[in-house]
Amino acid sequence: MTLPRLLLAAGAASALVALAQPNDPGLAAPTPAENRAPLTLGLDAKALYMTHCASCHGESGDGKGNEELERPARSFLLGGYSYGNTQKAVRRSVIHGIPGTPMPAFGATLGSDEINAVADYVISLGPPGTIVQPGESVLVVEDRPLVVKGMMPAYEQGAFREPRSLVVGFPNGTTFQFRTEDSRLLTVRQGEFLDRRDWGGRGGSELQPLGTLTWKAGRESRNFTEFVDAESGEGLRRKVKRTEVKGDDVWIHFDLLNERGARVGGGQEFVSFLMVEGVPVPMRAILGSGEGRTVKLRELTGAQSRGRDSIAVTTTPDRLVACVLDDAPNMRIYLHAPAYTPSLGLAFSASLQKKD
Ligand code: HEC
Repeated sequence: MTLPRLLLAAGAASALVALAQPNDPGLAAPTPAENRAPLTLGLDAKALYMTHCASCHGESGDGKGNEELERPARSFLLGGYSYGNTQKAVRRSVIHGIPGTPMPAFGATLGSDEINAVADYVISLGPPGTIVQPGESVLVVEDRPLVVKGMMPAYEQGAFREPRSLVVGFPNGTTFQFRTEDSRLLTVRQGEFLDRRDWGGRGGSELQPLGTLTWKAGRESRNFTEFVDAESGEGLRRKVKRTEVKGDDVWIHFDLLNERGARVGGGQEFVSFLMVEGVPVPMRAILGSGEGRTVKLRELTGAQSRGRDSIAVTTTPDRLVACVLDDAPNMRIYLHAPAYTPSLGLAFSASLQKKD
């Protein structure tokens, strides 16, 4: 069985050219002005700002626009960028928007010169020294997704270090951290990608995530197995076999292993984005099948409903929207959105229709 074509269509949403260039704000020293790429402050930068940005960020850039927002927009007067404080990172925030927040993507509405001008304009509103150069050990996601394996630090108090992590970075600044033993998604971050520190040969390099944490696996999902053996009810572990970057999307191929470590099937997880009102919503589709055994999805806990498009939807305690299509009962799609809203439903079913 292959994934429905809809997923490939939806994946095309992240095709914008990215300008990511990570840095570690904590370590990198402010750059002397002469080493910095010149600011492209054109005459129309302020006008562009007033037209496209001031309604949320305020006419003076103080973050107090007229628009009612569920999350306040950033004040540019103070500096301090959560999603990266290199010139390229600020431009990236404008091109791709910030998933999960009201900050829209302007990559389709503004030309690249206009984006550079307006990004440099908001930078110029902040104090000098806000914008830095990336450090040398920093890994950069350019215009294709990047997959890196290595040790990741504990992502919250009481959690453990993750020696075998799979870290997937996208040009729009979203980073997914998986565990290779069971393909479990542990965190999603937004902003810069990774810093690879050298630990002098003591067990390879430790990776330092640089983005802002936007999602993490809750306690109960940490032991959740997506698939079960249909006969015995036994949970099946999804061990990562290999990964593949295909165009704008990432595929994680896994083996399905029973509790004794024997292979009973396999499958893929597809990682991409769904565009909802100009903002990319992280989307993952997980498909598994048994070999010589019947394998099925485990039931989820959480609020169950049927969308108006009659898709079975569960809102999980982890703030994910999980969808199962009637014609693909062995595939679960996770949307990283707190609820199945009408606009999310519309975007989702529009991408379903592309299938035919
Ligand atoms: C619909 C409201 C809205 C509009 C219009 C908007 N923004 Fe934003 N923007 C936001 C919000 C809200 C955030 C904060 C996201 C967060 O951190 O929760 C944000 C964040 C940002 C950031 C990231 C700041 C950081 O912390 O790294 C940049 C850069 C940015 N906006 C630039 C712009 C520019 C330039 C424009 C115009 C071209 C613009 N925004 C238009 C709402 C908006």
